[in-house]
Amino acid sequence: MVHMNQGEGDTSYARNCGIQNAEQNRMKPLIEAAVVDLCTSTSLPRNMVITDLGCSSGSNALVLVSVAIEAIKSYCIQLQKNPPEMCVFLNDLPNNDFTMVIKNLVTLRQGNEPFVVTGVTPGSFYERLFTSGSLHLVCSSSSLHWLSKAPEVLTMNHIPAYNIDEHARREMLPMILEAYAQQFRNDFTHFLKLRAKELLSGGRMVISITGRHSDGFSSKLFHIWETIVQILSVMVLEGVIDKAKFDSFYMPMYGPSSEEFRDIIQEEGSFVIKEMLVRDFTSDADSALFAPKMFMCHMRAVFEPIIVQHFGEVMEEFTRTAERQWRVDGILMDQLGRLAWLCVSLTKA
Ligand SMILES: C[S@@+](CC[C@H](N)C(=O)[O-])C[C@H]1O[C@@H](n2cnc3c(N)ncnc32)[C@H](O)[C@@H]1O
Repeated sequence: MVHMNQGEGDTSYARNCGIQNAEQNRMKPLIEAAVVDLCTSTSLPRNMVITDLGCSSGSNALVLVSVAIEAIKSYCIQLQKNPPEMCVFLNDLPNNDFTMVIKNLVTLRQGNEPFVVTGVTPGSFYERLFTSGSLHLVCSSSSLHWLSKAPEVLTMNHIPAYNIDEHARREMLPMILEAYAQQFRNDFTHFLKLRAKELLSGGRMVISITGRHSDGFSSKLFHIWETIVQILSVMVLEGVIDKAKFDSFYMPMYGPSSEEFRDIIQEEGSFVIKEMLVRDFTSDADSALFAPKMFMCHMRAVFEPIIVQHFGEVMEEFTRTAERQWRVDGILMDQLGRLAWLCVSLTKA
């Protein structure tokens, strides 16, 4: 059921994806380096298959694959060779707004004729999407922190992910964090195994997710969704939303620490880490993106569908409550300061 706000209106993901775009720009050198490795490790391949998993909608959908195409072309220009044929696939869940994505893919193909052909591969990246040994390069930005589902140990036992009572919340935090960490471990391990089947030997993967700086339970905040849930908890206290409804709300999302992320990759064993970058959530991005009003637009574009599915039409009140809360000086930046972008470049072993 996960999708971002569709269309191209004021609240759409297409119009409010600047924070994620800043991270895509930071991924660029890693994708370029991966492409050069792919082109030089053996002889230049005759054809290459490239995919972006969790592409969403709007201009961001084509950024990573375009970086890869340009890197391949400029490598070939330097060597005075014809570029290989490139097959570019964009993936997201079936409820994603693929309308503009498809039109933009056609433009991308036409701008790179006759070397590029394009397609979409709808489905979950927690399932097989491509044939065995067919992929050269997998990219993914701001998507793999979405889990396949919320941890069943919480949902089946009706254990709220975020207790309104602060004391109870603090007591439950280790158990909640462990449930989410385990779900991420299972999902990400499964993802690595699937992609290892689909990539050819020496194939590359460059992915970036939101995680957190500190490990262990000392971190008060373990994912950006807590920022959202805190706002919803204020709405419960103000009688705008029902407490029972709030207690049964689970965000299928988890941000690991860099150590956790690295451990899972190493333990799964199909990939070698070429490079790993850990950066502040707000680094190298326009600070205006983190002003309360603007930040709210970004959060709304990502979380509105999942909030409305569960609570109904509460977004106007949600927006007002968030802006009121975040007006308290420093509170938002303090929460965001605990988050980090984790970007990793991998080679199939
Ligand atoms: C915040 S958007 C990121 C979009 C784009 N990559 C960017 O950097 O702007 C996250 C995307 O991941 C997609 N997503 C979440 N879980 C997914 C899954 N299991 N399989 C495929 N896509 C998924 C969502 O539908 C959403 O479009």
